Amino acid sequence: MSLIFPKWLNLLPTAAAIGGLLGFTGVVGGFWYYATPKFFKVGYMPKQPGGGFNHQIHAGKLGLDCRYCHTKVEKSAEANIPNVATCYGCHADNRLAKLATSETHKERTQFVREAYAQNTSIEWRRVHKVPDYVRNFPHNIHINAGVSCYSCHGQITAMPVVFEAQPLSMSWCLDCHRNPESQVVPRDKVTQLQWVQEEFARRSAAGDNGVAEGKKLLDAVQANPPQNCGACHY
Ligand code: HEC
Ligand code: HEC
Ligand code: HEC
Ligand code: HEC
Ligand code: HEC
Repeated sequence: MSLIFPKWLNLLPTAAAIGGLLGFTGVVGGFWYYATPKFFKVGYMPKQPGGGFNHQIHAGKLGLDCRYCHTKVEKSAEANIPNVATCYGCHADNRLAKLATSETHKERTQFVREAYAQNTSIEWRRVHKVPDYVRNFPHNIHINAGVSCYSCHGQITAMPVVFEAQPLSMSWCLDCHRNPESQVVPRDKVTQLQWVQEEFARRSAAGDNGVAEGKKLLDAVQANPPQNCGACHY
Protein backbone atom coordinates (compact mmCIF):
# COMPACT_ATOMS: atom_id res chain seq x y z
CA MET A 1 0.00 0.00 0.00
CA SER A 2 2.85 2.41 0.74
CA LEU A 3 3.53 2.65 -2.98
CA ILE A 4 -0.01 3.68 -3.78
CA PHE A 5 -0.55 6.08 -0.86
CA PRO A 6 2.37 8.47 -0.41
CA LYS A 7 3.13 9.67 3.14
CA TRP A 8 2.00 13.23 2.57
CA LEU A 9 -1.49 11.90 2.25
CA ASN A 10 -1.55 11.49 6.05
CA LEU A 11 -1.08 15.21 6.46
CA LEU A 12 -4.23 16.18 4.63
CA PRO A 13 -6.46 18.19 6.93
CA THR A 14 -9.90 16.69 6.42
CA ALA A 15 -11.28 13.22 6.05
CA ALA A 16 -13.34 14.47 3.13
CA ALA A 17 -10.22 15.31 1.17
CA ILE A 18 -8.84 11.86 1.88
CA GLY A 19 -12.11 10.34 0.70
CA GLY A 20 -11.81 12.28 -2.53
CA LEU A 21 -8.26 11.13 -3.07
CA LEU A 22 -9.14 7.51 -2.33
CA GLY A 23 -11.71 7.72 -5.09
CA PHE A 24 -9.15 9.23 -7.39
CA THR A 25 -6.64 6.51 -6.55
CA GLY A 26 -9.29 3.97 -7.44
CA VAL A 27 -9.70 5.56 -10.83
CA VAL A 28 -5.94 5.62 -11.42
CA GLY A 29 -5.64 2.03 -10.23
CA GLY A 30 -8.52 1.00 -12.45
CA PHE A 31 -6.99 2.77 -15.39
CA TRP A 32 -3.63 1.21 -14.67
CA TYR A 33 -5.17 -2.24 -14.57
CA TYR A 34 -7.33 -1.88 -17.64
CA ALA A 35 -4.67 -0.07 -19.62
CA THR A 36 -2.41 -3.13 -19.53
CA PRO A 37 -4.73 -5.86 -20.81
CA LYS A 38 -2.09 -7.65 -22.86
CA PHE A 39 -0.26 -8.38 -19.67
CA PHE A 40 -3.30 -9.52 -17.72
CA LYS A 41 -5.53 -11.26 -20.17
CA VAL A 42 -3.99 -12.84 -23.25
CA GLY A 43 -3.65 -16.53 -22.56
CA TYR A 44 -6.32 -16.50 -19.84
CA MET A 45 -7.51 -20.09 -19.52
CA PRO A 46 -9.64 -20.87 -16.45
CA LYS A 47 -10.09 -24.48 -15.35
CA GLN A 48 -13.39 -25.77 -16.70
CA PRO A 49 -15.86 -28.23 -15.09
CA GLY A 50 -15.60 -31.94 -15.84
CA GLY A 51 -12.50 -32.34 -17.94
CA GLY A 52 -13.62 -29.29 -19.90
CA PHE A 53 -15.06 -29.02 -23.37
CA ASN A 54 -12.69 -29.83 -26.19
CA HIS A 55 -13.10 -27.62 -29.29
CA GLN A 56 -10.26 -29.40 -31.04
CA ILE A 57 -12.28 -32.62 -31.01
CA HIS A 58 -15.77 -31.19 -31.63
CA ALA A 59 -15.13 -28.22 -33.95
CA GLY A 60 -11.84 -29.54 -35.40
CA LYS A 61 -11.86 -33.32 -35.78
CA LEU A 62 -15.66 -33.77 -35.89
CA GLY A 63 -16.03 -30.56 -37.89
CA LEU A 64 -19.16 -29.26 -36.09
CA ASP A 65 -20.00 -25.71 -37.16
CA CYS A 66 -19.73 -23.09 -34.41
CA ARG A 67 -23.43 -22.31 -34.85
CA TYR A 68 -24.43 -25.88 -33.96
CA CYS A 69 -23.79 -24.83 -30.35
CA HIS A 70 -23.39 -21.04 -30.40
CA THR A 71 -26.78 -20.82 -32.04
CA LYS A 72 -27.41 -17.10 -31.51
CA VAL A 73 -24.04 -15.72 -32.48
CA GLU A 74 -25.11 -14.32 -35.86
CA LYS A 75 -28.51 -13.11 -34.68
CA SER A 76 -27.82 -11.37 -31.41
CA ALA A 77 -25.21 -9.25 -29.68
CA GLU A 78 -24.22 -12.06 -27.33
CA ALA A 79 -22.88 -15.45 -28.32
CA ASN A 80 -24.65 -18.07 -26.22
CA ILE A 81 -23.07 -21.08 -24.55
CA PRO A 82 -25.05 -24.27 -25.36
CA ASN A 83 -27.10 -25.97 -22.66
CA VAL A 84 -26.63 -29.56 -21.53
CA ALA A 85 -29.37 -30.85 -23.83
CA THR A 86 -27.19 -29.96 -26.83
CA CYS A 87 -24.38 -32.13 -25.46
CA TYR A 88 -26.75 -34.86 -24.34
CA GLY A 89 -28.05 -35.19 -27.89
CA CYS A 90 -24.79 -36.99 -28.64
CA HIS A 91 -23.64 -38.11 -25.20
CA ALA A 92 -26.78 -39.89 -23.93
CA ASP A 93 -26.26 -43.42 -22.54
CA ASN A 94 -27.74 -45.13 -25.54
CA ARG A 95 -25.42 -43.29 -27.92
CA LEU A 96 -22.22 -44.11 -26.07
CA ALA A 97 -21.42 -47.25 -27.99
CA LYS A 98 -21.76 -45.45 -31.29
CA LEU A 99 -19.31 -42.70 -30.36
CA ALA A 100 -16.37 -44.36 -28.78
CA THR A 101 -16.44 -47.58 -26.85
CA SER A 102 -13.52 -46.97 -24.51
CA GLU A 103 -14.05 -46.70 -20.76
CA THR A 104 -12.11 -43.44 -20.70
CA HIS A 105 -14.60 -41.87 -23.08
CA LYS A 106 -17.46 -43.04 -20.89
CA GLU A 107 -15.78 -41.61 -17.81
CA ARG A 108 -14.84 -38.32 -19.42
CA THR A 109 -18.35 -37.64 -20.63
CA GLN A 110 -20.06 -38.81 -17.41
CA PHE A 111 -20.44 -35.22 -16.12
CA VAL A 112 -22.67 -34.46 -19.10
CA ARG A 113 -25.11 -37.28 -18.31
CA GLU A 114 -25.06 -36.38 -14.61
CA ALA A 115 -25.90 -32.74 -15.27
CA TYR A 116 -28.66 -33.79 -17.65
CA ALA A 117 -30.14 -36.31 -15.19
CA GLN A 118 -30.11 -33.70 -12.40
CA ASN A 119 -31.52 -31.05 -14.69
CA THR A 120 -28.70 -28.68 -13.80
CA SER A 121 -26.49 -26.66 -16.09
CA ILE A 122 -22.74 -27.10 -16.38
CA GLU A 123 -21.05 -24.09 -14.80
CA TRP A 124 -18.65 -23.17 -17.59
CA ARG A 125 -16.23 -20.44 -16.57
CA ARG A 126 -16.26 -17.44 -18.80
CA VAL A 127 -13.08 -16.78 -20.78
CA HIS A 128 -13.78 -13.59 -22.78
CA LYS A 129 -15.30 -10.57 -21.11
CA VAL A 130 -15.09 -6.86 -21.79
CA PRO A 131 -15.58 -4.58 -18.75
CA ASP A 132 -19.15 -3.46 -18.00
CA TYR A 133 -18.46 0.11 -19.06
CA VAL A 134 -18.03 -1.20 -22.61
CA ARG A 135 -21.75 -1.40 -23.13
CA ASN A 136 -21.88 -2.34 -26.75
CA PHE A 137 -20.17 -5.30 -28.33
CA PRO A 138 -22.49 -6.82 -30.96
CA HIS A 139 -21.47 -10.24 -32.32
CA ASN A 140 -24.14 -10.25 -35.01
CA ILE A 141 -22.99 -7.00 -36.62
CA HIS A 142 -19.36 -8.12 -36.82
CA ILE A 143 -20.27 -11.48 -38.27
CA ASN A 144 -22.63 -9.99 -40.83
CA ALA A 145 -19.85 -7.63 -41.91
CA GLY A 146 -17.62 -10.66 -42.57
CA VAL A 147 -15.36 -10.56 -39.50
CA SER A 148 -14.51 -14.15 -38.60
CA CYS A 149 -14.42 -15.65 -35.12
CA TYR A 150 -10.79 -16.35 -36.02
CA SER A 151 -9.89 -12.63 -35.95
CA CYS A 152 -11.04 -12.24 -32.36
CA HIS A 153 -10.80 -15.70 -30.78
CA GLY A 154 -7.89 -17.29 -32.63
CA GLN A 155 -7.82 -20.84 -34.01
CA ILE A 156 -10.52 -22.30 -31.76
CA THR A 157 -10.66 -25.53 -33.79
CA ALA A 158 -7.15 -26.34 -32.56
CA MET A 159 -7.82 -25.60 -28.87
CA PRO A 160 -8.34 -28.54 -26.50
CA VAL A 161 -9.16 -25.82 -23.94
CA VAL A 162 -10.29 -22.31 -24.99
CA PHE A 163 -7.99 -19.47 -23.99
CA GLU A 164 -8.01 -15.79 -24.75
CA ALA A 165 -6.00 -15.29 -27.93
CA GLN A 166 -6.48 -11.52 -28.36
CA PRO A 167 -6.21 -8.67 -25.81
CA LEU A 168 -9.82 -7.35 -26.24
CA SER A 169 -8.41 -3.94 -25.32
CA MET A 170 -9.69 -0.63 -26.62
CA SER A 171 -6.67 -0.17 -28.88
CA TRP A 172 -7.21 -3.66 -30.25
CA CYS A 173 -10.84 -2.83 -31.15
CA LEU A 174 -9.80 0.49 -32.66
CA ASP A 175 -6.87 -0.91 -34.65
CA CYS A 176 -9.33 -3.03 -36.57
CA HIS A 177 -11.98 -0.31 -36.79
CA ARG A 178 -9.44 2.00 -38.43
CA ASN A 179 -8.22 -0.61 -40.93
CA PRO A 180 -10.72 -3.46 -41.07
CA GLU A 181 -10.16 -4.46 -44.72
CA SER A 182 -7.51 -7.13 -44.19
CA GLN A 183 -9.70 -8.84 -41.56
CA VAL A 184 -12.81 -9.23 -43.68
CA VAL A 185 -13.79 -12.49 -45.38
CA PRO A 186 -16.84 -13.53 -47.41
CA ARG A 187 -19.86 -13.85 -45.12
CA ASP A 188 -20.28 -17.62 -45.66
CA LYS A 189 -16.68 -18.30 -44.54
CA VAL A 190 -16.92 -16.58 -41.16
CA THR A 191 -17.22 -19.81 -39.13
CA GLN A 192 -14.71 -21.77 -41.26
CA LEU A 193 -11.71 -20.95 -39.15
CA GLN A 194 -9.29 -23.26 -40.92
CA TRP A 195 -10.15 -21.67 -44.26
CA VAL A 196 -9.76 -18.18 -42.78
CA GLN A 197 -6.35 -18.94 -41.30
CA GLU A 198 -5.10 -20.23 -44.66
CA GLU A 199 -6.66 -17.27 -46.46
CA PHE A 200 -4.88 -14.80 -44.16
CA ALA A 201 -1.58 -16.61 -44.75
CA ARG A 202 -2.20 -16.45 -48.49
CA ARG A 203 -3.01 -12.75 -48.27
CA SER A 204 0.06 -11.82 -46.30
CA ALA A 205 2.19 -13.66 -48.84
CA ALA A 206 0.38 -11.97 -51.74
CA GLY A 207 1.34 -8.37 -50.98
CA ASP A 208 -1.56 -6.00 -50.25
CA ASN A 209 -2.82 -8.16 -47.36
CA GLY A 210 -6.24 -8.55 -48.92
CA VAL A 211 -7.05 -4.87 -48.49
CA ALA A 212 -8.59 -4.42 -51.96
CA GLU A 213 -10.69 -7.57 -51.61
CA GLY A 214 -11.80 -6.66 -48.09
CA LYS A 215 -12.76 -3.17 -49.17
CA LYS A 216 -15.10 -4.58 -51.81
CA LEU A 217 -16.73 -6.88 -49.27
CA LEU A 218 -17.16 -4.03 -46.77
CA ASP A 219 -18.60 -1.69 -49.40
CA ALA A 220 -21.10 -4.35 -50.40
CA VAL A 221 -22.57 -4.45 -46.88
CA GLN A 222 -21.96 -0.72 -46.30
CA ALA A 223 -20.01 -1.53 -43.17
CA ASN A 224 -18.68 1.43 -41.24
CA PRO A 225 -16.80 0.58 -38.03
CA PRO A 226 -17.26 3.41 -35.49
CA GLN A 227 -14.48 5.24 -33.66
CA ASN A 228 -16.61 7.61 -31.59
CA CYS A 229 -16.64 6.92 -27.86
CA GLY A 230 -20.41 6.62 -27.66
CA ALA A 231 -20.59 3.68 -30.07
CA CYS A 232 -18.95 1.36 -27.57
CA HIS A 233 -19.40 3.15 -24.24
CA TYR A 234 -22.66 5.19 -24.46
C1 HEC B 1 -20.53 -28.98 -29.57
C2 HEC B 1 -20.69 -27.62 -29.10
C3 HEC B 1 -19.73 -26.51 -29.52
C4 HEC B 1 -19.27 -26.22 -30.79
C5 HEC B 1 -19.53 -26.95 -32.09
C6 HEC B 1 -18.45 -25.03 -30.66
N1 HEC B 1 -18.44 -24.63 -29.34
FE1 HEC B 1 -17.51 -23.00 -28.59
N2 HEC B 1 -18.06 -23.54 -26.70
C7 HEC B 1 -18.85 -24.62 -26.37
C8 HEC B 1 -18.96 -24.72 -24.92
C9 HEC B 1 -19.71 -25.79 -24.14
C10 HEC B 1 -18.21 -23.65 -24.39
C11 HEC B 1 -18.00 -23.31 -22.90
C12 HEC B 1 -16.81 -24.05 -22.34
C13 HEC B 1 -15.49 -23.44 -22.70
O1 HEC B 1 -15.32 -22.24 -22.58
O2 HEC B 1 -14.60 -24.22 -23.11
C14 HEC B 1 -17.65 -22.94 -25.52
C15 HEC B 1 -16.86 -21.81 -25.43
C16 HEC B 1 -16.41 -21.06 -26.51
C17 HEC B 1 -15.68 -19.81 -26.41
C18 HEC B 1 -15.26 -19.15 -25.12
C19 HEC B 1 -16.43 -18.48 -24.45
C20 HEC B 1 -16.04 -17.65 -23.25
O3 HEC B 1 -16.31 -18.07 -22.13
O4 HEC B 1 -15.46 -16.58 -23.44
C21 HEC B 1 -15.45 -19.37 -27.69
C22 HEC B 1 -14.74 -18.12 -28.07
C23 HEC B 1 -16.00 -20.36 -28.58
N3 HEC B 1 -16.59 -21.36 -27.84
C24 HEC B 1 -15.93 -20.29 -29.96
C25 HEC B 1 -16.32 -21.30 -30.80
C26 HEC B 1 -16.05 -21.29 -32.22
C27 HEC B 1 -15.34 -20.19 -32.97
C28 HEC B 1 -16.57 -22.44 -32.73
C29 HEC B 1 -16.52 -22.92 -34.16
C30 HEC B 1 -15.23 -23.06 -34.76
C31 HEC B 1 -17.15 -23.18 -31.61
N4 HEC B 1 -16.97 -22.46 -30.47
C32 HEC B 1 -17.80 -24.41 -31.70
C33 HEC B 1 -19.46 -25.47 -27.26
C34 HEC B 1 -19.22 -25.51 -28.63
C1 HEC C 1 -22.62 -34.00 -32.71
C2 HEC C 1 -22.31 -34.84 -31.58
C3 HEC C 1 -21.67 -34.26 -30.36
C4 HEC C 1 -22.08 -33.18 -29.62
C5 HEC C 1 -23.26 -32.25 -29.87
C6 HEC C 1 -21.20 -33.11 -28.46
N1 HEC C 1 -20.27 -34.10 -28.53
FE1 HEC C 1 -18.81 -34.46 -27.18
N2 HEC C 1 -18.02 -35.91 -28.36
C7 HEC C 1 -18.59 -36.37 -29.53
C8 HEC C 1 -17.79 -37.45 -30.07
C9 HEC C 1 -18.05 -38.23 -31.35
C10 HEC C 1 -16.69 -37.61 -29.18
C11 HEC C 1 -15.55 -38.61 -29.29
C12 HEC C 1 -14.52 -38.06 -30.21
C13 HEC C 1 -13.25 -38.83 -30.16
O1 HEC C 1 -12.99 -39.54 -29.19
O2 HEC C 1 -12.48 -38.66 -31.11
C14 HEC C 1 -16.89 -36.63 -28.11
C15 HEC C 1 -16.05 -36.49 -27.03
C16 HEC C 1 -16.35 -35.75 -25.89
C17 HEC C 1 -15.60 -35.75 -24.66
C18 HEC C 1 -14.36 -36.58 -24.38
C19 HEC C 1 -13.20 -35.74 -24.81
C20 HEC C 1 -11.87 -36.28 -24.43
O3 HEC C 1 -11.06 -35.46 -24.03
O4 HEC C 1 -11.66 -37.50 -24.58
C21 HEC C 1 -16.20 -34.87 -23.81
C22 HEC C 1 -15.81 -34.53 -22.37
C23 HEC C 1 -17.32 -34.30 -24.51
N3 HEC C 1 -17.37 -34.85 -25.78
C24 HEC C 1 -18.16 -33.35 -23.97
C25 HEC C 1 -19.17 -32.70 -24.70
C26 HEC C 1 -19.93 -31.56 -24.20
C27 HEC C 1 -19.75 -30.93 -22.84
C28 HEC C 1 -20.80 -31.23 -25.19
C29 HEC C 1 -21.79 -30.09 -25.20
C30 HEC C 1 -21.27 -28.76 -25.05
C31 HEC C 1 -20.59 -32.15 -26.30
N4 HEC C 1 -19.58 -33.02 -25.96
C32 HEC C 1 -21.31 -32.16 -27.48
C33 HEC C 1 -19.76 -35.91 -30.10
C34 HEC C 1 -20.51 -34.83 -29.67
C1 HEC D 1 -14.94 -8.66 -33.53
C2 HEC D 1 -14.50 -9.62 -32.57
C3 HEC D 1 -15.27 -10.89 -32.35
C4 HEC D 1 -15.75 -11.76 -33.30
C5 HEC D 1 -15.69 -11.63 -34.80
C6 HEC D 1 -16.34 -12.86 -32.58
N1 HEC D 1 -16.24 -12.66 -31.22
FE1 HEC D 1 -16.96 -13.83 -29.75
N2 HEC D 1 -16.42 -12.45 -28.33
C7 HEC D 1 -15.78 -11.26 -28.62
C8 HEC D 1 -15.75 -10.44 -27.42
C9 HEC D 1 -15.16 -9.05 -27.30
C10 HEC D 1 -16.39 -11.20 -26.40
C11 HEC D 1 -16.69 -10.75 -24.97
C12 HEC D 1 -18.04 -10.04 -25.06
C13 HEC D 1 -18.58 -9.47 -23.79
O1 HEC D 1 -17.93 -9.44 -22.75
O2 HEC D 1 -19.76 -9.05 -23.83
C14 HEC D 1 -16.79 -12.47 -27.01
C15 HEC D 1 -17.45 -13.50 -26.36
C16 HEC D 1 -17.79 -14.72 -26.94
C17 HEC D 1 -18.38 -15.84 -26.25
C18 HEC D 1 -18.70 -15.90 -24.77
C19 HEC D 1 -20.14 -15.54 -24.55
C20 HEC D 1 -20.63 -15.80 -23.14
O3 HEC D 1 -21.72 -15.29 -22.84
O4 HEC D 1 -19.96 -16.46 -22.35
C21 HEC D 1 -18.58 -16.84 -27.18
C22 HEC D 1 -19.18 -18.21 -26.95
C23 HEC D 1 -18.12 -16.32 -28.45
N3 HEC D 1 -17.65 -15.03 -28.27
C24 HEC D 1 -18.18 -17.04 -29.64
C25 HEC D 1 -17.92 -16.50 -30.89
C26 HEC D 1 -18.14 -17.20 -32.16
C27 HEC D 1 -18.66 -18.61 -32.30
C28 HEC D 1 -17.78 -16.33 -33.15
C29 HEC D 1 -17.84 -16.54 -34.66
C30 HEC D 1 -19.11 -17.04 -35.21
C31 HEC D 1 -17.34 -15.10 -32.51
N4 HEC D 1 -17.45 -15.24 -31.15
C32 HEC D 1 -16.90 -13.96 -33.18
C33 HEC D 1 -15.26 -10.89 -29.83
C34 HEC D 1 -15.58 -11.46 -31.05
C1 HEC E 1 -11.14 -7.65 -36.64
C2 HEC E 1 -11.89 -6.42 -36.80
C3 HEC E 1 -12.72 -5.88 -35.64
C4 HEC E 1 -12.44 -5.94 -34.30
C5 HEC E 1 -11.25 -6.58 -33.62
C6 HEC E 1 -13.51 -5.23 -33.62
N1 HEC E 1 -14.41 -4.78 -34.53
FE1 HEC E 1 -16.12 -3.72 -34.12
N2 HEC E 1 -16.54 -3.63 -36.09
C7 HEC E 1 -15.78 -4.16 -37.13
C8 HEC E 1 -16.42 -3.88 -38.39
C9 HEC E 1 -15.92 -4.29 -39.77
C10 HEC E 1 -17.60 -3.16 -38.09
C11 HEC E 1 -18.60 -2.54 -39.08
C12 HEC E 1 -19.88 -3.31 -39.12
C13 HEC E 1 -20.92 -2.59 -39.96
O1 HEC E 1 -20.90 -1.35 -40.01
O2 HEC E 1 -21.75 -3.27 -40.53
C14 HEC E 1 -17.64 -3.02 -36.64
C15 HEC E 1 -18.68 -2.38 -35.95
C16 HEC E 1 -18.73 -2.20 -34.57
C17 HEC E 1 -19.78 -1.49 -33.87
C18 HEC E 1 -20.96 -0.77 -34.52
C19 HEC E 1 -22.16 -1.58 -34.47
C20 HEC E 1 -23.30 -0.88 -35.15
O3 HEC E 1 -24.36 -0.79 -34.53
O4 HEC E 1 -23.13 -0.44 -36.31
C21 HEC E 1 -19.48 -1.55 -32.53
C22 HEC E 1 -20.26 -0.95 -31.38
C23 HEC E 1 -18.24 -2.30 -32.41
N3 HEC E 1 -17.83 -2.69 -33.67
C24 HEC E 1 -17.61 -2.57 -31.20
C25 HEC E 1 -16.40 -3.25 -31.09
C26 HEC E 1 -15.71 -3.48 -29.84
C27 HEC E 1 -16.19 -3.00 -28.48
C28 HEC E 1 -14.58 -4.17 -30.15
C29 HEC E 1 -13.52 -4.67 -29.22
C30 HEC E 1 -13.92 -5.40 -28.03
C31 HEC E 1 -14.57 -4.40 -31.58
N4 HEC E 1 -15.67 -3.81 -32.12
C32 HEC E 1 -13.57 -5.08 -32.26
C33 HEC E 1 -14.60 -4.84 -36.99
C34 HEC E 1 -13.95 -5.13 -35.79
C1 HEC F 1 -14.58 0.26 -30.77
C2 HEC F 1 -15.01 0.38 -29.42
C3 HEC F 1 -14.50 1.53 -28.56
C4 HEC F 1 -14.49 2.86 -28.87
C5 HEC F 1 -14.94 3.53 -30.16
C6 HEC F 1 -13.97 3.55 -27.71
N1 HEC F 1 -13.68 2.62 -26.74
FE1 HEC F 1 -12.96 3.04 -24.88
N2 HEC F 1 -12.77 1.05 -24.49
C7 HEC F 1 -13.18 0.05 -25.33
C8 HEC F 1 -12.87 -1.23 -24.71
C9 HEC F 1 -13.15 -2.61 -25.29
C10 HEC F 1 -12.28 -0.94 -23.46
C11 HEC F 1 -11.85 -1.95 -22.40
C12 HEC F 1 -10.40 -2.21 -22.49
C13 HEC F 1 -9.93 -3.26 -21.52
O1 HEC F 1 -10.67 -4.17 -21.14
O2 HEC F 1 -8.80 -3.16 -21.16
C14 HEC F 1 -12.24 0.50 -23.34
C15 HEC F 1 -11.72 1.18 -22.27
C16 HEC F 1 -11.79 2.55 -22.09
C17 HEC F 1 -11.31 3.26 -20.92
C18 HEC F 1 -10.65 2.62 -19.72
C19 HEC F 1 -9.15 2.74 -19.82
C20 HEC F 1 -8.49 2.10 -20.97
O3 HEC F 1 -7.84 2.81 -21.79
O4 HEC F 1 -8.55 0.87 -21.13
C21 HEC F 1 -11.55 4.59 -21.11
C22 HEC F 1 -11.24 5.72 -20.16
C23 HEC F 1 -12.16 4.71 -22.44
N3 HEC F 1 -12.29 3.45 -23.00
C24 HEC F 1 -12.53 5.90 -23.02
C25 HEC F 1 -12.89 6.06 -24.37
C26 HEC F 1 -13.03 7.34 -25.05
C27 HEC F 1 -12.83 8.70 -24.40
C28 HEC F 1 -13.36 7.06 -26.34
C29 HEC F 1 -13.55 8.04 -27.51
C30 HEC F 1 -12.40 8.81 -27.86
C31 HEC F 1 -13.46 5.60 -26.46
N4 HEC F 1 -13.16 5.04 -25.24
C32 HEC F 1 -13.81 4.92 -27.62
C33 HEC F 1 -13.79 0.20 -26.55
C34 HEC F 1 -13.97 1.38 -27.21
